[in-house]
Amino acid sequence: MKIGIVGAGNIGASAARLFVKAGHEVAIANSRGPETLTELVEELGGSAKAVSVEEATAFGDVVFVSIPFGRYKDLPAAAFAGKIVIDSNNYYPERDGRFAEHDDGRTTSSEMLAQHLNGARVVKGFNTIWFEHLRTQGDTSLPVPERRAIFIAGDDEEAKNVVADLIESIGFAAVDTGGLAYGGASQQPGTAIYNRDITAREAEAIVGSEGY
Ligand SMILES: NC(=O)c1ccc[n+]([C@@H]2O[C@H](COP(=O)([O-])OP(=O)(O)OC[C@H]3O[C@@H](n4cnc5c(N)ncnc54)[C@H](OP(=O)(O)O)[C@@H]3O)[C@@H](O)[C@H]2O)c1
Repeated sequence: MKIGIVGAGNIGASAARLFVKAGHEVAIANSRGPETLTELVEELGGSAKAVSVEEATAFGDVVFVSIPFGRYKDLPAAAFAGKIVIDSNNYYPERDGRFAEHDDGRTTSSEMLAQHLNGARVVKGFNTIWFEHLRTQGDTSLPVPERRAIFIAGDDEEAKNVVADLIESIGFAAVDTGGLAYGGASQQPGTAIYNRDITAREAEAIVGSEGY
């Protein structure tokens, strides 16, 4: 699969390494330009290239976005039309500034991103896993229910299936928390599943319980 990655920090670079290892092609971008990513793409090898944000977006069958949430409006919305987008961004007010519509419970960070990327098929995912765990805990030799859970949420079932397959290809198991509103809210910082180091089997039991 062709994967565009926007954001080349702890999560974006860790995901890039896993995607390349699993046989995917990667085009990765940050805010400062491809020339600042030479070392990373050299390490990643021939199936990865450093590009602009617009180029990464155009390249990807799936576009993995991993930037500080407060910068989401920088993303060039038109380039994302129709794309399956993985939203790993988390909202931390002390880093990102305050967003009143989020703070008063009217919406969630992923719904705000989806609204900005008008027409993109946004799947929230990779939000609750620390990048060191992402880097080290994938294991394709394990049966899927015994793998570390990566939670997803979204309103487009087909897009969620594509993302779930991608997650399995790197040795994790996708656990669906529901739509972007309730499911998305359940993956935000401070929730019961945030940063929980659990298997898919354990995670399914939590997600299946009322009001988790
Ligand atoms: N760290 C974790 O364990 C973890 C786990 C789950 C989710 N998250 C969330 O995932 C997101 C990324 O976290 P991180 O730890 O990887 O952050 P990070 O190490 O600070 O990296 C952020 C990346 O985003 C890029 N970026 C910032 N603004 C951009 C823009 N407008 N356009 C394109 N690229 C932009 C930065 O590029 P430049 O350096 O060129 O500015 C950098 O490559 C955050 O929302 C975070 O809360 C983090």
